[in-house]
Amino acid sequence: MHDGTPMQDETARAAGHALAVAGLGKRVALPSGDLTILQDVAFRVGHGDTVAIVGASGSGKSTLLSLLAGLDTPSTGSVVLDGAPISTLDEDGRAKVRGEKVGFVFQSFQLLPSLTALENVMLPLELRGDREVDGPAREVLARVGLGERLGHYPRQLSGGEQQRVALARAFVTRPSLLFADEPTGNLDTATGQSIIELLFALNADAGTTLVLVTHDDHLAQRCKRRLRIDSGRLVADEAMTA
Ligand SMILES: Nc1ncnc2c1ncn2[C@@H]1O[C@H](COP(=O)(O)OP(=O)(O)O)[C@@H](O)[C@H]1O
Ligand SMILES: [Mg+2]
Repeated sequence: MHDGTPMQDETARAAGHALAVAGLGKRVALPSGDLTILQDVAFRVGHGDTVAIVGASGSGKSTLLSLLAGLDTPSTGSVVLDGAPISTLDEDGRAKVRGEKVGFVFQSFQLLPSLTALENVMLPLELRGDREVDGPAREVLARVGLGERLGHYPRQLSGGEQQRVALARAFVTRPSLLFADEPTGNLDTATGQSIIELLFALNADAGTTLVLVTHDDHLAQRCKRRLRIDSGRLVADEAMTA
């Protein structure tokens, strides 16, 4: 039965899930001693699901999302992302999986200031070596309503427009998973609402699995499932009724 390594066993059990997390923990060494940021987090997400991670400020939500997306490595436990054991890969291996499978949207947009909207959206395609980058980038920018703003630099765009570019950049690779950390956190209510509508429309088009962190009740309510984090632990996992 158990002739594989623990990670091989975990990868096998995770088969068929968009995301499988087991025993996940993160500790950091501080001058004052070790700080445990996350402890013993476990859950699975099916393909095409929409999941909101909620919890107080400082509870560990952003740390968790970074581990799920392979932007950071855990101290304990495992993350299997669409069949890839991302928590055991080195930085190059994680970058490859991210390029193939992951889109990420941040609260602060994180566009490159020296690149135009079009260049920002082409970048993830270039980084993974796609040949056709211009056409797909133009298409998704048109889809987010910025077909007339291709040559604009981030500083020439409003916050809402910058987040639209960031959505275009996240979806242009057709990721199997999209992670978003407080995507409406820097936007006024009306602009945030339009970003939410766009996010869910793009998500429905692409059949992407969506995992987002939010303080925004409107946004959390749009997701089928809600995970609550408290002091680094998963304390509730609820299916939301429409
Ligand atoms: N690299 C780090 N070094 C020290 N403390 C950290 C580090 N990353 C996060 N923390 C701390 O861990 C806790 C959780 O942070 P975070 O995941 O950003 O929470 P949230 O996104 O829920 O607000 C906070 O107390 C934060 O200060
Ligand atoms: Mg955070």
